[in-house]
Amino acid sequence: MTIERIVDTSTHADDNDEQQIERTLRPQRFSEYIGQEHLKKNLELAIGAAKKRGEPVDHVLLYGPPGLGKTTMATVIANEMGANIRVTAGPAIERAGDLASILTNLADGDILFIDEIHRLSRSVEEVLYAAMEDYKLDIVIGKGPAARSVRLDLPKFTVIGATTRAGALAAPLRDRFGLSHRLDFYTPQEIGQIIERAAKLLGSKIDTKAVAMLSGRARLTPRIANRLLRRVRDYADMNGDGVIDTAIATKALRLLEIDDLGLDHADRRLLNSIVDHYGYRPIGLTTIAALTGDETSTIEDFIEPYLLQIGLIERTPRGRRVTVKAAKHLGKQPQQELL
Ligand code: ADE
Repeated sequence: MTIERIVDTSTHADDNDEQQIERTLRPQRFSEYIGQEHLKKNLELAIGAAKKRGEPVDHVLLYGPPGLGKTTMATVIANEMGANIRVTAGPAIERAGDLASILTNLADGDILFIDEIHRLSRSVEEVLYAAMEDYKLDIVIGKGPAARSVRLDLPKFTVIGATTRAGALAAPLRDRFGLSHRLDFYTPQEIGQIIERAAKLLGSKIDTKAVAMLSGRARLTPRIANRLLRRVRDYADMNGDGVIDTAIATKALRLLEIDDLGLDHADRRLLNSIVDHYGYRPIGLTTIAALTGDETSTIEDFIEPYLLQIGLIERTPRGRRVTVKAAKHLGKQPQQELL
């Protein structure tokens, strides 16, 4: 069994209920989508112009920390274009032939959403960027001396790629995206609005103070905000009349062991062990990974972005180090010899 962290920014993929609810809460149009104002403006312009010309919208790359709405934004783009969307992910396209069969089954104007696009293999990447460039697919039929290459015409489609790291994409692929945008963390106010909207859709009553309380603990991430709301709603249904007020929210959050910055037990343990062993000294990513037993990519993609965003750790040329703010939050001082 794996223990799922409530503040984990990945979707809990084996939780069908969670995925189902996430889908029902997802905004369908720009008018319902809260936050990412800069990105929405740019996309609205590109979509408006493409529709006016009767062309598909340019290929779009969305990057940034998980849970901030890359998939949601892709479905909104498809809805605004009135286009069909086909959803896949980098690791699911193993061979060039897999991609060829996806591409040849698209129709004009379709959107192909590729999540974790940085995880495509080099050979698949090569086929993809050629297809994105001129809507042609070169495939080799047969083997050995009888092998021959054929060039197929593809429909005029749009790729929307999502990645936690734009830097991990091969430059030729990255260059094929006419639009490339980072999704930023949301403001606490935006997270509050997202919680209010979700509560309304779920038919839950939540008071303003409880909204503020949850939004301060949601790590500026809609996916976590919605998950917290559902757990607190469960608590309110079981231990009260279903109304979420600060008394109920406080107890539910205590049960979940989430503190007032949205840190859970695992985050605090990480920060504690850095302060205990290294004080404010910079340490490398691999050292942090050794302390937590996680992969370095998990630290970089899932754990660290929020801690950097709220200033509990900082990046220096010699590695990451915890800040005075972090030590204060933990209520401790590094030992004298580590200062
Ligand atoms: N649910 C999840 N993300 C959202 C967003 N950005 N706006 C509205 N509802 C959301």
